[in-house]
Amino acid sequence: MSFSLTLTSLLLPLLLSVRLTIATAAGDEAALLGFKAGITGDISSALAAWNSSTSFCSWEGVTCSHGRWPPRVVALSLTSLGLAGTLSPAIGNLTFLRRLNLSYNWFHGEIPPSIGRLRRLQALDMRDNSFSGTIPANLSFCTSMTYLHLGSNQFHGRIPPELGNMLTRLQKLRLPNNSFTGPIPSSLANLSSLYFLDLSLNNFEGPVPPQLGSIRGLEVVDVFQNSLTGILANDSLPYIL
Ligand SMILES: *[C@@H]1O[C@H](CO)[C@@H](O)[C@H](O)[C@H]1NC(C)=O
Ligand SMILES: *[C@@H]1O[C@H](CO)[C@@H](O)[C@H](O)[C@H]1NC(C)=O
Ligand SMILES: *[C@@H]1O[C@H](CO)[C@@H](O)[C@H](O)[C@H]1NC(C)=O
Ligand SMILES: *[C@@H]1O[C@H](CO)[C@@H](O)[C@H](O)[C@H]1NC(C)=O
Ligand SMILES: *[C@@H]1O[C@H](CO)[C@@H](O)[C@H](O)[C@H]1NC(C)=O
Ligand SMILES: *[C@@H]1O[C@H](CO)[C@@H](O)[C@H](O)[C@H]1NC(C)=O
Ligand SMILES: *[C@@H]1O[C@H](CO)[C@@H](O)[C@H](O)[C@H]1NC(C)=O
Repeated sequence: MSFSLTLTSLLLPLLLSVRLTIATAAGDEAALLGFKAGITGDISSALAAWNSSTSFCSWEGVTCSHGRWPPRVVALSLTSLGLAGTLSPAIGNLTFLRRLNLSYNWFHGEIPPSIGRLRRLQALDMRDNSFSGTIPANLSFCTSMTYLHLGSNQFHGRIPPELGNMLTRLQKLRLPNNSFTGPIPSSLANLSSLYFLDLSLNNFEGPVPPQLGSIRGLEVVDVFQNSLTGILANDSLPYIL
């Protein structure tokens, strides 16, 4: 009795760590299959070979980390493939993801708030789809983000002010050709690495916040076709379009 207890207590941590390793590796496969389950149309059969007969690292559009065990998904790039469907909340389980590119497809529905779990995400490109809803405030937890492109979708509502306070590494922010409304949040002035801001073809209201002039490297501010009032002529914003 006491022997088996001792054995168990010795083995348990070992068993747990083995389980944990397998669970994280299987976790990325499960997350990718969850992502696939959100796809309802795949005219180019891009995801037909996404099944357990091969390692998920070899699946189309998937890039895994090199020299890491277990391997983790670091990039998912599925562009111009005619993919239709929604973005599954399972995406939030690919916690090593650095790049997500779903541009030029037919995705619809909202960005799941679970995206906020992707703290390593550096680039998110969803341009030219039919995504709708508002930008989830949870996106502001993706604090590694340098590139965000949500252009030409059907997003509406305001830019969550939190984005400006938390995505401080953002260099390019592109939201053109949606139905965004409300003011341009002055918190965007906290994006000290920003050099390209494209808010064109929306329904933003009010002035361009003068605080944006404090972003030293800001080169382009495109606010073409909005409902802005009192666009300022500020020498520190040389390239307002
Ligand atoms: C699984 O993927 C392989 C290619 O990796 C493919 O040949 C096979 O048909 C797929 N199996 C199913 C059940 O879709
Ligand atoms: C994320 O992974 C956890 C643990 O494996 C699982 O319980 C959960 O259902 C997953 N979330 C989604 C949205 O698939
Ligand atoms: C996403 O893919 C498109 C089309 O291939 C490409 O033009 C774009 O640069 C990619 N975005 C990122 C962030 O890599
Ligand atoms: C929002 O992001 C936070 C921080 O990563 C995370 O803990 C939370 O689960 C996310 N919310 C949802 C609904 O997934
Ligand atoms: C704006 O988006 C619509 C689809 O929502 C697209 O048809 C149109 O070409 C886009 N316009 C520009 C200027 O990108
Ligand atoms: C961000 O900007 C807002 C408004 O300009 C300001 O009140 C706030 O202190 C800034 N936050 C940070 C973290 O810099
Ligand atoms: C221009 O921007 C600078 C930097 O933020 C600011 O101090 C200044 O007041 C602005 N000028 C005008 C006319 O708004």
